[in-house]
Amino acid sequence: MKHFTGINDLGPAGLEAILAKAAAWKAGPHPKHLIDKLLGMVFFNPSLRTRASFEAVMARGGGNAIVLEVGNGVWKLEDRLGAIMDGDRAEHVREAVPVLSRYVDALAVRTFAGGTNDDLDHSDPVMNAFRDLATVPVISMESAREHPCQGLADLLTVRETFGITRKIPVTLAWAPHIKPLPKAVPNSFLLSAAAAGCEVRVAHPKGFELHPSVLAQAEAYAQATGGSVSITHDLDAAVEGSQVIYAKAWGPATGSGLPTDAIKAYPEWMTSPRHLDQARADAIFLHCLPVRRNVEVSDAVLDHARCRVVEEAENRFHVQRAILDWIFE
Ligand code: CP
Repeated sequence: MKHFTGINDLGPAGLEAILAKAAAWKAGPHPKHLIDKLLGMVFFNPSLRTRASFEAVMARGGGNAIVLEVGNGVWKLEDRLGAIMDGDRAEHVREAVPVLSRYVDALAVRTFAGGTNDDLDHSDPVMNAFRDLATVPVISMESAREHPCQGLADLLTVRETFGITRKIPVTLAWAPHIKPLPKAVPNSFLLSAAAAGCEVRVAHPKGFELHPSVLAQAEAYAQATGGSVSITHDLDAAVEGSQVIYAKAWGPATGSGLPTDAIKAYPEWMTSPRHLDQARADAIFLHCLPVRRNVEVSDAVLDHARCRVVEEAENRFHVQRAILDWIFE
């Protein structure tokens, strides 16, 4: 049984195959490849793109989806083994996940980082509980560690813009925010770009390091694909000559000593036209969305002719179609 909860479920060759299928299907008619398939979608957190794109994939592919919002008309779920369930979480995943598996052909799950302990978040406890307990395939719609469908959509956007991904210089640019955000999206962009052979530059202020396990995985992919991973605290140096600027806010690393509201403290890291000017003349701007205008990214960048955030969001549909086809093939 296949699962897709991280880029490691595909590896570099699998990622390339998914991008190729997504690109081919994007250019052609929609296949009805999901007839009689039912996807159960479990959300622990809100969504616009992920929910709409997965529902669209299922409907256009001839299948159906049911959506469960945990804590909103659905029992709150406990995932800790041995928990004394005397709080507001009325049902344990040990029952809920096998039960849901009896109704649907695959489960898609969105969880979120706790945000107080990077090691705990990177062990991905809720997503891994679903993986362990489900008797049908599990697909991540974002977890504490990764947002792999987003990473695939990001790389499809790079591929269709430049025709290739290998050796493309891309900058993952930390951005300010009003609150500390999880690291799943930057992790997945880094992992996907390294697995696709890009020259990845990760730029962030000191104290916002990504988890060592993610950096090690990205380094291993880069070695396998001929790409590279470098880390800098100088955004201007990172974007110089880049073909992609990918802005994303994330919170301080556990143990950095920084307060959580340090994420507000670097307004000069907001992506502005100056950064696009420093990049290559054909450079594109990407962001997973939602984006806080004039906090993370300036209006002038988001309204720029080389901003591809809407195309990037559209590509969620195309890569998820390919992922579901791979899951069910
Ligand atoms: N990029 C993304 O996952 O968007 P949503 O949170 O709206 O699903």
